[in-house]
Amino acid sequence: MKFFIDTADINEIKELAATGMVDGVTTNPSLAAKSGKKFLDLVREICAIVPGPVSAEVTALDYATMMKEAAVLRKIATNVTIKVPLTPDGLKACKSLSSDGVMVNVTLCFSPAQALLAAKAGASFISPFVGRLDDIGSDGMALIDDICTIYRNYDFKTEVLVASIRHPMHIVEAAKIGAHVSTMPPSTLRQLFNHPLTDKGLKAFMDDWAKTGQSIL
Ligand code: E4P
Repeated sequence: MKFFIDTADINEIKELAATGMVDGVTTNPSLAAKSGKKFLDLVREICAIVPGPVSAEVTALDYATMMKEAAVLRKIATNVTIKVPLTPDGLKACKSLSSDGVMVNVTLCFSPAQALLAAKAGASFISPFVGRLDDIGSDGMALIDDICTIYRNYDFKTEVLVASIRHPMHIVEAAKIGAHVSTMPPSTLRQLFNHPLTDKGLKAFMDDWAKTGQSIL
């Protein structure tokens, strides 16, 4: 499973990229606004840090303007992935861009039917939002299961990019289902490293080692 981080915080991206665990980055207009940076500069900076796919979202709602925005964004770097909303115009843009060899991430997916449309439009990634479904009492992980089944049935090449992740178990469950990518907040990626028994075990090893008075170096 590939790990993307869902943030526009440059310091977080640099720090986590150094762990070797970051395969890509996703941003959205809300995260970009929070960064306080000029969007095009922000995308350029992220693309220079992470060589994998960096999702940059169009902000127009109509096809023609989405295509103009995508033309600007794709010039920034070869790893820019154009993110479009799951609307008729967004899917039309997805079809045009993917036919032209551009990576497209279709975002705001909340149903298997929507995911089927995105795959037919040639999306590189579909972003189902598990946390936002869980938030309204629906089952976000059931959606991931359904999409993975449908994509496998037809051998679609679109990768399932699990989004709106709230905690490590979302990632574990998605990995068990076989989703291709999880995009997670930096805090959730950090949580993946942790287990109290690792800390306890390491402390015991270090205490016992100290008693030997030895040093490997
Ligand atoms: C995905 O690309 C989105 O940016 C993101 O995962 C949304 O997550 P949220 O529901 O926590 O805002």
